[in-house]
Amino acid sequence: MAFYYQEPSRTFSEYLLIPNLTRTDNIPANVDLTVPVVKYRTGEQSALRMNIPIVSAIMQSVSDNNLAVALARSGGISFIHGSQSVADQAEMIRKVKKYKAGFVISDSNLTPDHTLRDILALKERKGHSTVAVTEDGTPNGKLLGIVTSRDYRISRDALDKPIREFMTPFASLVYGREGISLSEANDIIWDHKLNCLPIIDENQNLMYFVFRKDYDSHKENPYELLDQHKRYVVGAGVNTRDFAERIPALVEAGADVLCIDSSDGFSEWQRRTIEYVQANFKGQIGIGAGNVVDREGFRYLVESGADFVKVGIGGGSICITREQKGIGRGQATALIEVAAARDEYFQETGIYIPICSDGGIVHDYHITLALAMGADFVMMGRYFARFDESPTKKFKLGNNYVKEYWGEGSNRARNWQRYDLGGGQGLSFEEGVDSYVPYAGGLKENLDITLSKIKSTMCNCGALSIPELQRTARITLVSSTSLIEGGAHDVILKDKTVYSET
Ligand code: IMP
Repeated sequence: MAFYYQEPSRTFSEYLLIPNLTRTDNIPANVDLTVPVVKYRTGEQSALRMNIPIVSAIMQSVSDNNLAVALARSGGISFIHGSQSVADQAEMIRKVKKYKAGFVISDSNLTPDHTLRDILALKERKGHSTVAVTEDGTPNGKLLGIVTSRDYRISRDALDKPIREFMTPFASLVYGREGISLSEANDIIWDHKLNCLPIIDENQNLMYFVFRKDYDSHKENPYELLDQHKRYVVGAGVNTRDFAERIPALVEAGADVLCIDSSDGFSEWQRRTIEYVQANFKGQIGIGAGNVVDREGFRYLVESGADFVKVGIGGGSICITREQKGIGRGQATALIEVAAARDEYFQETGIYIPICSDGGIVHDYHITLALAMGADFVMMGRYFARFDESPTKKFKLGNNYVKEYWGEGSNRARNWQRYDLGGGQGLSFEEGVDSYVPYAGGLKENLDITLSKIKSTMCNCGALSIPELQRTARITLVSSTSLIEGGAHDVILKDKTVYSET
């Protein structure tokens, strides 16, 4: 006879936190949001930690190198999607690792033989007013001069003038040498009243520009997540089929952590993939596995060697796994059970396994609830898809701006491996939809608000760190009737009111 769970499975919106005593030191400025990413033994530190408890989903429509830089700058990790060739994914990782905060590879470059007309066309296309003049017109060619809008006056006669006649030539430029630190570059910028400083190598080849405004923005990111070489930290999604080819390339490109991307992780395919990493890259890179929704799945992955475990089936906003296949579990119930299994495992072995709650975060408070229920961090797709930095197109739908967002199990993503049981048969039905999400602006401004809500709630709960929240939180179920009083009710909301002034 089949096994029946007696309790229904529940989701985040069915729970609330009950405040604990707020002490006088419980202020947001004192809240520590750092979390471990990979497993560690009692008395040791996790080999990889984040400054905020948030990662971005392993999805084509979410995590590319741009989003990864923006998120690492704010303290979290993006898992660059693997729904692309090994070479393309490795290239994205490389771009994140090469990105030096404040050091920008010049994207507007011409040769001295180009003309003012070319400068104007380039400015129109790229929107930047600083153009590097290099011998071969490439971003890293020999630097011969620079043109900014201060170097020319636009007139009909001047349009065909070659750049060499009006650029600021190399001999008159102030520059920095490769290896200079950002604060040294900034000192030169201030001493010479410059807007930007070219950085060259020993052969006078242009490496980067440092712009004054970038240095300022650098100072605004106290949480930024850097590796020991001061490069941004980045993760990569992998699958259970081409791992022997993909993983070495990702490690070589500089990935800091891996995660197997699958809607159902309780499988021998995952065990094989984890074992491959443990056999070939132990101590070099960690691998997360999932997704699971119960104790058995958790134990299986951990005993296979997983460094963290991802929880959640069917709760994602673009996910139709539950209606297509009838598998899944309410996200809160799944998380609570897996967190209990994690604590039990810790008692037995002294090894702490971080848990990631993946999918289904609709409101910011769901993140705090997930953390209180035992998650060390959350993975979000929809949340990040709304921002400027996500890889998808933004356009106007009616009166509002939207961005595209599609599931990895949708035909659009054509990610056959993810749903393939491993035997090579393709996907004959979809598990995800293609959709729009409301455009929300830049990542940092949105994330800052989310983080301040999390910190504020933690203060209400008397917790100054995530482990403290996990230990001391008090969580209550809410009835369906009290759900109604949770939002504004029995009032007429002004911004929803359509009225005429007659
Ligand atoms: P969201 O944050 O609610 O949008 O959920 C994102 C999560 O949904 C991802 O991290 C995946 O675990 C999951 N997911 C992504 N694509 C699909 C799909 O096509 N079908 C089912 N789940 C998906």
